[in-house]
Amino acid sequence: MTIELFELQQEDVENLTRLHIAAWNETYSSYMPSEVLKGNTFESRLKSWQETLDKKDPSLFVLLAKIDNELAGFVVASIDPRDKLGFDAELMAIYVLKKFHKQGIGKVLMSSAFEFCRTRGAKNIYLWVAAENMKALEFYSKFGGKKESLVKNDHGVRHVCFSWGLAHTKF
Ligand SMILES: CC(C)(COP(=O)(O)OP(=O)(O)OC[C@H]1O[C@@H](n2cnc3c(N)ncnc32)[C@H](O)[C@@H]1OP(=O)(O)O)[C@@H](O)C(=O)NCCC(=O)NCCS
Repeated sequence: MTIELFELQQEDVENLTRLHIAAWNETYSSYMPSEVLKGNTFESRLKSWQETLDKKDPSLFVLLAKIDNELAGFVVASIDPRDKLGFDAELMAIYVLKKFHKQGIGKVLMSSAFEFCRTRGAKNIYLWVAAENMKALEFYSKFGGKKESLVKNDHGVRHVCFSWGLAHTKF
């Protein structure tokens, strides 16, 4: 099995939108309020991905993964030195479709995002994860994430924060 990694192109925007919605529903259907899930529409996600592509923001990293020419997952990271929480970068999203889990895609997406941030001078990175998202919590712990004491409520769901120092973190 070969994981093909590539940057977002116009031709992938619609497929990425479909994958994002499918992965969101797979991940959150059991504990996210239904009105939040219903608000995750094709039109709103498509608009958001199109804006991301058009903006060409150099501080934003978007990487897609394909298996046998099928879109399997993506990661988004953003550089923001010493942001309001005191970190240099945020891992904003990482999603792999369920049928592609446990094949190393999450790891390669995450390590690529870390490398992007590290080479742009970020010393650390953080992310928010729903406190009930056991699979992701295990994944982040396994890959050396440090659970911070920060918590926030997002979409009516409690989120916890994980961070990594980037200088020595290698997956
Ligand atoms: C969290 C997530 C990104 C992990 O992605 P993934 O592609 O399954 O991750 P990997 O395959 O790299 O690693 C996961 C596990 O598979 C194992 N693994 C990796 N390659 C493997 C292989 N070739 N064969 C068997 N197992 C493998 C890893 O060691 C790891 O083991 P663990 O579950 O015992 O910890 C994925 O579960 C996901 O997208 N979840 C839904 C969305 C989500 O929750 N996102 C986070 C929001 S904050």
